[in-house]
Amino acid sequence: MATVLMWYVLTEHLTGVKSIHGARMSKIVFAAYLVFVPPTSLYHMFLEPNLSEGVRVVGSLLSLFVSVPTLAAFAIIVSSLEASARARGATGFFGWMRGLPWDNPAMTNMGWAVVNMMVGITFAFVLIQGELAPMLSDTFFVPGYFHFFAVGVLTQTFLAAMMVMLPALSGGSLWRPAVLRRMPVVVTIGLLIFGAAGITAGFMGVPRRVFDVSYGGMAPAAWPVLMALVGIGATVFAVAISVTVYGVVRTLLSRRAPVATKVPVVDWRAGARGVGAAPAWTGPVSVAALVAAMYVFTIIAFKLIQSLPIVALGGGHGH
Ligand code: HEM
Repeated sequence: MATVLMWYVLTEHLTGVKSIHGARMSKIVFAAYLVFVPPTSLYHMFLEPNLSEGVRVVGSLLSLFVSVPTLAAFAIIVSSLEASARARGATGFFGWMRGLPWDNPAMTNMGWAVVNMMVGITFAFVLIQGELAPMLSDTFFVPGYFHFFAVGVLTQTFLAAMMVMLPALSGGSLWRPAVLRRMPVVVTIGLLIFGAAGITAGFMGVPRRVFDVSYGGMAPAAWPVLMALVGIGATVFAVAISVTVYGVVRTLLSRRAPVATKVPVVDWRAGARGVGAAPAWTGPVSVAALVAAMYVFTIIAFKLIQSLPIVALGGGHGH
């Protein structure tokens, strides 16, 4: 929620575009978190062996709803930007994105954070399901998917906010915008390697929170290969995130006049005519693509898990 609020504020600050759906709609969407978040607590009981099937299904459904305010706020931001860009003559399905201030590292951090959210949320939908959660929650699937959020979404969004706030507060200037704006794509590449290998490793049974997964040479041959890829991906995103953090610290310590590096902030309000005259489809189409991806990966997850030779031992004790 805090991240999405940041996107909302940063978007207006960096582009001058306010929500075309009005402030009241946004307030309703943000207030909806208060309704949708508490019921997710059922999800945290999914390893309880005596939990009835009905409670499990209800818990899964209620947990899936937590994405409603996040995706609604995403759609509000994207459609407001797209409608404003189209009113200024932007064409092509993704052409409206070209005018965004991509030279500003705050914008690239936020833009790639949105991509990471879409990937992360797809696998969150897989994990949140009552049938799959107990099988996957102690495997490397979990750190594999949630770093898209922890690093890709949260960390990058808050670093973007720092990049805007620190120069404004301290009067310093942003450290090397040309370097900083290239980091988010590197972070995302690292996360994609880490996530793809980690999620696959989790499906194959690699445990989380264990340092040595060789099990005296008895572990399947694919495990060390996948975990080596996890290590490579982790190194890539850790280096890129470290560069960004360094840049933010240098910005904090900077005492130069802010004019020294002027980071572009566009103003799409200027000359905007007839917002809404051309349809803005990217928001709704992205949400539809996300739901389709969720179905595909859920089906793959069920198929993979059904093909595993699992023997349950010890009845209702432990997992
Ligand atoms: C920047 C470099 C980072 C790297 C290379 C990294 C790597 C990892 C790895 C490999 C694990 C899995 C450990 C295991 O289960 O065996 C893990 C767990 C975790 N990471 Fe990260 N991470 C990074 C940043 C972050 C950030 C920025 C956050 C939070 C904002 C975060 C939150 C977590 C949490 C909550 C866990 C789960 C700990 C647990 O299982 O108890 N990580 N991390």
